[in-house]
Amino acid sequence: MAIKRIAVLTSGGDAPGMNAAVRAVVRTGISRGLEVYGISRGYHGLLKDEIQELSLRSVADIIHRGGTMLYTARSKSFATPEGVTAAADILKDHQIDGLVCIGGDGTFRGAQDLCRKGFPCIGVPATIDNDISCCEHTIGFDTAMNTCVEMIDKLRDTAQSHDRCSLVEVMGRHSGELALAVGLAVGATGIIVPEVKFDFDKDIIDRMKEISKTGKKHFIFVVSEGVGHTTDLAKKIEEITGVESRATILGHVQRGGSPTAFDRNMASEMGHRSVELLLLGKSNRVVACQDDRIEDYDIEQALSMKKMFPKDRFEIAHEISN
Ligand code: F6P
Repeated sequence: MAIKRIAVLTSGGDAPGMNAAVRAVVRTGISRGLEVYGISRGYHGLLKDEIQELSLRSVADIIHRGGTMLYTARSKSFATPEGVTAAADILKDHQIDGLVCIGGDGTFRGAQDLCRKGFPCIGVPATIDNDISCCEHTIGFDTAMNTCVEMIDKLRDTAQSHDRCSLVEVMGRHSGELALAVGLAVGATGIIVPEVKFDFDKDIIDRMKEISKTGKKHFIFVVSEGVGHTTDLAKKIEEITGVESRATILGHVQRGGSPTAFDRNMASEMGHRSVELLLLGKSNRVVACQDDRIEDYDIEQALSMKKMFPKDRFEIAHEISN
């Protein structure tokens, strides 16, 4: 079947660079003679028929903007067999032949459900968590990493001035990838992630005491959201060591902001490839970035692959952060 009309949506948590991916989908589609539709608010908006045609100008001046011009949502009603059937019917009513779904693993599960209903979908990985196994980098990770680094550099100034211990919680859901990348880049005293078992006394208290002997008086620990309890940890550290301690939860600020050039470029290439795949008659694929190359994997395979935590990088960070 020749593809004439495609649609694009963003779903799940927003990620900087989603706009660049949407732009690439729209512009590639139009350049190949297709009509391109934008679905607002992800699968939630799809079920509410929030669909409109996009032009070349609809996606002008968005490449540098964070968030997503298509808005995003997490939909409970879509995640039911009735929801998926209704969504597939709506797409067919609009005579849409293929869908590009930009988001994380939840988004890909939705795409997979639509594919099982015979509707062609391609996933584009965008999440600051960098937790998609087939993908070395997901769209938004680089920007979020740089945002966190910028903020922790500022925290360092005040932690240093007060001889304090600063515990900074960064996002990542169950993944410590962001915490590790950020912790290494800021030279944190310690990085606490769900993938590596940590011992409060040995990895925090003894470490602070040992490093204090070299004259160091301020400390930064990067704590991954998946470990949590950051405020409690700060209180406990202060009680035991006597070093004034503060917890900072960076929160949603780390998901916003203008995407880095890296994220814009990767998003543009991935968005472009997603349309090419639909035109080749492919479906149920996830576009991925591996060794600086854009590849694609079966969604099933992509979701079942286990992402290996870069333990070697974790150990390097540990060894040089004293
Ligand atoms: O998946 C991206 C992410 O920012 C996670 O790091 C975090 O756990 C979650 O989304 C937060 O979700 P919400 O924006 O719904 O609070």
